Amino acid sequence: MEDKLKFLQQRREIIIGGGGPDRIEDQHKKGKQTARERLEKFLDPGSFVEVGTFVQGNLEDASTMDIPLPGEGVVTGYGTVNGRLVYLFAQDFTVSGGSLGEMHAAKICRVMDLAAQNGAPLIGINDSGGARIQEGVMSLDGYGNIFFRNTINSGVIPQISVIMGPSAGGAVYSPALTDFIFMVDDTSYMFITGPQVIKAVTGEEVTPGKLGGAATHNETSGVAHFRAKNEQECLEMIKKLLSYLPSNNLDNPPAVSPVEPTIPAEDLVELVPADPNKPYDVVEVIKRIVDGSELFQVQEHYAKNAVVGFARIDGQTVGIIANQPKYLAGCLDINCSDKIARFVRFCDCFNIPLVTFVDVPGYLPGVHQEYGGIIRHGAKILYAYSEATVPQISVVLRKAYGGAYIAMNARSLGADLVYAWPTAEIAVMGPEGAINIINRREIEKSDNPDEMRKQKVAEYRQKFANPYIAAARGWIDDVIDPRETRQRLIMGLASLKNKYEDRPRKKHGNFPV
Ligand code: HXC
Repeated sequence: MEDKLKFLQQRREIIIGGGGPDRIEDQHKKGKQTARERLEKFLDPGSFVEVGTFVQGNLEDASTMDIPLPGEGVVTGYGTVNGRLVYLFAQDFTVSGGSLGEMHAAKICRVMDLAAQNGAPLIGINDSGGARIQEGVMSLDGYGNIFFRNTINSGVIPQISVIMGPSAGGAVYSPALTDFIFMVDDTSYMFITGPQVIKAVTGEEVTPGKLGGAATHNETSGVAHFRAKNEQECLEMIKKLLSYLPSNNLDNPPAVSPVEPTIPAEDLVELVPADPNKPYDVVEVIKRIVDGSELFQVQEHYAKNAVVGFARIDGQTVGIIANQPKYLAGCLDINCSDKIARFVRFCDCFNIPLVTFVDVPGYLPGVHQEYGGIIRHGAKILYAYSEATVPQISVVLRKAYGGAYIAMNARSLGADLVYAWPTAEIAVMGPEGAINIINRREIEKSDNPDEMRKQKVAEYRQKFANPYIAAARGWIDDVIDPRETRQRLIMGLASLKNKYEDRPRKKHGNFPV
């Protein structure tokens, strides 16, 4: 027995040692932690339990200390975050560059299956040179098995990808299939083809960071959802995200003790300018309504004309969606349509009620938008809200014009309750655009066209640009004092707690991608 225990201990030490001290030092020099260090820092102390410790690709002799690729370049297992179960894999760059071979993939698939069967989130820490070249097509099959599970598990358990090194080639598609991607400044990058291939094919010259770094994917491409300054901050952000989420699609998000906003609601009435063309920061409005004035934004740096993120109201997680008048006047464009639709669908998968704050002049006009397919992309918001069956409350703060009024979850798309502030303007289009069409001849014929235009705009505003026509039809449930918004949301969400909606059975819809 003594011998056997010694043998076990020695083999375990080799595996835990990963690629050895030199490669671990290299990893540290790059500003990166090892796979095991990352797991240790992320999980509750002492909670990590490894699964598949001795998995090995070369099976000629498993009775010696000759283990060419300790752990096959990935550490897999489970543990707890603030007491809640999660499954994880962390690729080990110190072993063959974290490259993915057959058994590396098998280890990942095993924890993916366990996570789905046990209804716990899956967190994948990626730091890999991609397909293990020596294993050829076996690596590709491994990726296929992971992609398939990412897809089957989508909407069943939250799947979170963390990029803490390279993620190149087809390997990027596992993160892309998951719900959220975290990236770290300076040390992480993602691309389908790297700078050298791009130079050879298109002649363009670009650095890896510029091509696929954290800033690029958080600000320009919209591939990533969160950006951290360093690994430690990144791990803390993941914990924060998890605190808002249920463990699976059958659970409700964890409730916490309610707290009042730290910023009082008193100045809400002045925060939104009466002049409908004046910008303001909608985040300041949200902060005066949600628990602790805390909004955890998703894709904060991308498509800033919309704000999406998690918050709590009366201790319960909600998904917040808002137009941001500070950027593009809060218009809906291609990128923010994708941002909103994806977020709404995530919340609907995981029983998170939707609270939508509306101040939208319309879909963004322009040749670039039309050529880019604003019709196709804009449709995603309509589809996502219509498809959602979680409790939904919309609050119209100011402008709600045309198709964008509907898109921001009007009653007709499925909002359960719609409130409007007295500053709301709900109509087919804004006064300026409308009178140019319906009063064009009158204005042209007038002796003083400018004066006539002003007069017609004022008449239109008086008659149509208010919440009362929509309220008269019952599409607005009440026009409220802005300072009452939080209380209305608390009571509204409580009244919708047991909402149940049955939809026609089908295999799945055809989402307009
Ligand atoms: C086998 C690999 C490897 C790989 C790295 N290594 N990538 N081994 N297969 N894909 C090994 C290296 O040989 C080296 O081993 C060790 O990992 C560390 O790599 P370095 O190159 O020394 O590290 P660094 O300088 O930091 O460069 C990291 C890197 C580079 C940029 C990731 O290694 C690289 O370009 N790798 C190849 C990337 C790639 O083209 N992958 C295939 C993508 S296609 P030693 O023993 O010397 O230390 C793909 C298809 C997936 O993934 C399709 C899915 C559908």
